[in-house]
Amino acid sequence: MLKLGVNIDHVATLREARYRGRAHGEPSPVAAARQCEAAGAHGITAHLREDRRHIQDRDMWQLREVVRTRLNFEMANEPEIVAIALKMKPEIVCLVPERRQEVTTEGGLDVVANELALTETRKRMNEAGIEVSLFINAIPTQIQAAAFVGAQFIELHTGRFADHFAEAAEREAELERLIAAAKQAHALGLRVNAGHGLNYENLPLIHRVPHLVELNIGHSIISRALTTGLTTAVQDMLGLMQDYRG
Ligand code: PXP
Repeated sequence: MLKLGVNIDHVATLREARYRGRAHGEPSPVAAARQCEAAGAHGITAHLREDRRHIQDRDMWQLREVVRTRLNFEMANEPEIVAIALKMKPEIVCLVPERRQEVTTEGGLDVVANELALTETRKRMNEAGIEVSLFINAIPTQIQAAAFVGAQFIELHTGRFADHFAEAAEREAELERLIAAAKQAHALGLRVNAGHGLNYENLPLIHRVPHLVELNIGHSIISRALTTGLTTAVQDMLGLMQDYRG
């Protein structure tokens, strides 16, 4: 079964727009996480950025307390954030780029250029019982490097596929890249997640990508929730995912 991880950063973005710098405010990403889980989501993802632009430290700690499924702590490979994750012990961390020099040309983590530093963090996380995922583009050298790092998962960056969804030729080319990347990663023993820009319109085509374990989806679910409510938004997405054959 293809799993759904809901990224609740956008709930915090809305709160920070009004309550930045205050220790309270609505809407609550923690309440949203509970509702997503109750609606059937298989995991909750939150990104504690170095600049704290949306999720705050208190959110992460509260999420650690209330999340009953699987907490995916999205983060840059930076000492301050690594230390927080090691203390918090989420089930999994997803390492993402936040700085220009960590980013490949197409937006994912540059694992090739940062292999040593990523391997070091991967080992420390694994020793603490935390699984590690690397957010990367569908580029063969990056996938190979992710295997060298010893990551348990990669998360394939679906942003370009989503961006080009309206252009058939580009969309097909991106899908083919994702399909090849998933096959390569699977053959290397990596488990494969995917995310970024996935929505109710483009999701059906993602069924063509094999070996997927989990999709991480934020913006489209939180946006739909404004009109349908979060429970329905999550359930609608789960409905679109349920026939995935792997
Ligand atoms: N995966 C990763 C690594 C992300 O950073 C994000 C949020 O930017 C997502 C998935 C979810 O993307 P979206 O909000 O476009 O669904």
